[in-house]
Amino acid sequence: MKRLTGNELRKMYIDYFVSHGHKQIKGASLIPENDPTVLFTTAGMHPLVPYLLGAKHPMGTRITDVQKCVRTGDIDDVGDNSHATFFEMLGNWSLGDYFKKEAITWSYHFLTDPEYLGIDKDRLAFTCFAGDETVPRDTESYEIWRSLGVPEDRIFFLGREHNWWGPAGTTGPCGPDTEMFLIMKEPCGPDCSPACDCGAYLEIWNDVFMEYNKQADGSYIPLSQKNVDTGMGLERTIAVLQGVSSVYETDIYHDIIAKVEEICGKSVNDDEDTKKAIRIVADHIRCATFIMGDDRGVAPGNVDQGYVLRRLIRRAVRFGRQLGFPSERLEEVSRVVIDTYKEIYPELENNKPFIMTELNREVKRFSRTLEQGVKEFDRVAAKAKETGVIDGVTAFHLYDTFGFPIEITVEMAKEAGLKVDAEGFEAAFTEHRKKSQAGSSQRFAGGLADTSEVTARLHTATHLLLASLKKVLGEHVNQRGSNITPERLRFDFNFERKMTAEEKQQVEAMVNEAIAKDMPITVEEMSVDEAKAQGATGVFSDRYGEVVKVYTMGDFSKEICGGPHASRTGELGVFKIQKEESSSQGVRRIKAVLKSAE
Ligand code: SER
Repeated sequence: MKRLTGNELRKMYIDYFVSHGHKQIKGASLIPENDPTVLFTTAGMHPLVPYLLGAKHPMGTRITDVQKCVRTGDIDDVGDNSHATFFEMLGNWSLGDYFKKEAITWSYHFLTDPEYLGIDKDRLAFTCFAGDETVPRDTESYEIWRSLGVPEDRIFFLGREHNWWGPAGTTGPCGPDTEMFLIMKEPCGPDCSPACDCGAYLEIWNDVFMEYNKQADGSYIPLSQKNVDTGMGLERTIAVLQGVSSVYETDIYHDIIAKVEEICGKSVNDDEDTKKAIRIVADHIRCATFIMGDDRGVAPGNVDQGYVLRRLIRRAVRFGRQLGFPSERLEEVSRVVIDTYKEIYPELENNKPFIMTELNREVKRFSRTLEQGVKEFDRVAAKAKETGVIDGVTAFHLYDTFGFPIEITVEMAKEAGLKVDAEGFEAAFTEHRKKSQAGSSQRFAGGLADTSEVTARLHTATHLLLASLKKVLGEHVNQRGSNITPERLRFDFNFERKMTAEEKQQVEAMVNEAIAKDMPITVEEMSVDEAKAQGATGVFSDRYGEVVKVYTMGDFSKEICGGPHASRTGELGVFKIQKEESSSQGVRRIKAVLKSAE
């Protein structure tokens, strides 16, 4: 087995696939451009979705790259041996070109050949899709592994929860996959398999055979072309190659962990709790640095990517506090992250001033109230011992007054053996928002609008815009992306051609009419089914649980959305489209502004 560094593995992987006719492309931004259904790029295939669906890629039909990814679904597991919120994925793609035979053969060759990774063949295990009522058992992949010399007892057939990949968001390309595992230790019993979580098997690579397109209604239709999408986790693979048992012990993390240890004067070898806290600080600051340092980077905030970022930084502050780590020195950890990666991701160095300013600002904001907040938490936790539950209003108080994201309160409650009334929290939150919106419209009338009010109005304008586009261009038009700054809105939607001047005028006039009617904007919480039944548009994602918020603007628009919004359409001023242009194949982009009414 080759003992490669992260940099060496990146290069070896790309060179290997280039030697097999692939073109290397630059990895995409961490913040997806055309997919409103997810907050971050979660896999290498994600930015390639249009091409997996059939659009022509300018570089051809064989592509390879390194993609920075963020996945926060497992944030509670960070600190164990294999979970991290940020990671890099190495990948190769066939866009309607080669299929199972080549993909599997190359994967096996790269893993086992002494010129490449040189992993001992006896240490590898594989899984294939077992089949179900809609998609047949993948015996083809099984036979290919067998033909390469893999013994039958090291190939496992597993069901959809294990051997089906995608889509990345709620709709899009997906299909059965075959996964590759390193055998880390003896299986725990006769029924042990890569599906078992005993730690005997570590997944390092995944070859997905993308043949289906999942629709918004949950059905699968065959894709016009058969694709291959593979993804190898960089950190996990080098952990194996470097003979260490965790991603945190690899060369990539070395300087980052060392910095955390140096500042707090503790070591990962002290005890399990210390080790975990050190790893959490290292992981979260690494991830936060990449989110802020992206060319489409964001600042901490209360919604979407900004909120995830806020949670990461605040969690790092909180775990740092357990270590006696002075939080104002977190920026030093971030600097080490930048130094570790700047050759490969020069944007980190370019965006360094932004990263430093925003990180320090957020740390300061939270540290100011953390001490008091923890005291307050201890007080309410002691009181909640009787019922075992921290009520929603109290959880909201911790959020509103001390800046505890609800997830932190839930986590601290768990440590104290308590639960949090999350629904009650949501209700208190909605109530508060209603009040502050009423307040904000009054302030706006007086001419004193702050940034969040300006963006809320632009956000409302995107709902009116989508409703108008549907009326003018057809009901099939849907949102593909949205980005709002205090200056303008940017809205991507599916539509096959340039809009005519007349259509643009019609849409603009329709939005302005809706504004002139000064319709009230109301929000209701309901189940996804109820929202569908009411004809609400928007992304039917189940990521946030069963209950969604539906914003209604008179009889003009009904859309699933997290908010916030203006309280009446009349607050918006005058809507003006500045640009309508192509964003990508089949996707158009509108930039528009709101001007104050004369
Ligand atoms: N999309 C697949 C994954 O994330 C393979 O790249 O594992």
